[in-house]
Amino acid sequence: MTTSGAPLVLGIETSCDETGIGLVRGHDLLANEIASSVEEHARYGGVVPEVASRAHLEAIEPAIRRACDTAGVALSDVDALAVTAGPGLVGALLVGVATAKALSVALGIPLYGVNHLASHVVVDELQHGPLADPTIALLVSGGHSSLLMVTDDVREFTPLGQTLDDAAGEAFDKVARLLGLPFPGGPWIDRMAVDGDPRAIAFPRGLTAAGDRDRHPYDFSFSGLKTAVARWVKARELAGEPVPVADVAASCQEAIVDVLTAKMVTACGALGVRHVVIGGGVAANSRLRAMAQARCDSAGIELRVPRPGLCTDNGAMVAALGARLVAQGAVPSDLDFPTSSTMAVTRRAW
Ligand code: KG4
Ligand code: ZN
Repeated sequence: MTTSGAPLVLGIETSCDETGIGLVRGHDLLANEIASSVEEHARYGGVVPEVASRAHLEAIEPAIRRACDTAGVALSDVDALAVTAGPGLVGALLVGVATAKALSVALGIPLYGVNHLASHVVVDELQHGPLADPTIALLVSGGHSSLLMVTDDVREFTPLGQTLDDAAGEAFDKVARLLGLPFPGGPWIDRMAVDGDPRAIAFPRGLTAAGDRDRHPYDFSFSGLKTAVARWVKARELAGEPVPVADVAASCQEAIVDVLTAKMVTACGALGVRHVVIGGGVAANSRLRAMAQARCDSAGIELRVPRPGLCTDNGAMVAALGARLVAQGAVPSDLDFPTSSTMAVTRRAW
């Protein structure tokens, strides 16, 4: 499908440690520039908000220029703007939102303050075209883990379940830290697990016991897993035995991915939905992608997962949601819209 006549939308993402600028026309991705401050945070073992905000300030203007150069367009060619308004780190969000508001006024074009979580879902349209209606979305990032029902031509996001404690990405990052792996830990666990045995250690699968399954069919819990890994590692150390990092990584990854995919497929069966999409940084995980594909194939469900570069935070996803809003004639945000560190997953935009 070509969308060459569609409006040109520039998306700005600054909710965490990635300064992302995307340019999208309809479902066509023209540029996706990312400047990351992750190296500056690595030695602290987590993102330092003030460091992230300063890095966004330095990176954002050059990133916008690079995106325009890559796409072969001028800033004056842009028809509409989208920016992440939340959820995220407030100081970091403010850099993107202030930049977007200034551009909106200077260029005289509409601006949409969009939801980071919804854009993790909609980004798949850049790779696989319009999402089916209805679709169930598994959203798994560093700060959120939810199962959502997406209906009304991607206007409605209805939560089916969510994590009661740690997000899936947070669980990956915490286990990685226990194993002495660098931050962010998810990609490291993914890599280390390749040489490990996923059945070596039976780590707990949160909220999958009979009673929990009834009360929390689509909710997740990963804090017990983190504690179990901590205890297991400590016991090895106290016994003076080496920690088999690859086996722990593979077994822990298996526990997380098993629960995520099982609940996703169960929700599809129970609710009669034949289409799922996975979004968010954890969707880059190779074992999650493989297990989800196998389970969806067995259950006759059509699975969509964007390529890894579109799963982790980027500007293309913001532009993709912006393009959706423009195409649907959504009313642009008023220019005094706020940033929100806790923006609800049910909202597409302000
Ligand atoms: O969506 P995202 O880029 O940022 C947030 O909105 O939070 O997600 C970041 C999270 C981190 O916890 C990171 O460790 C995790 O995604 N992640 C992965 C992988 N790549 C990124 N987790 C497991 N396997 C991966 N390959
Ligand atoms: Zn994200």
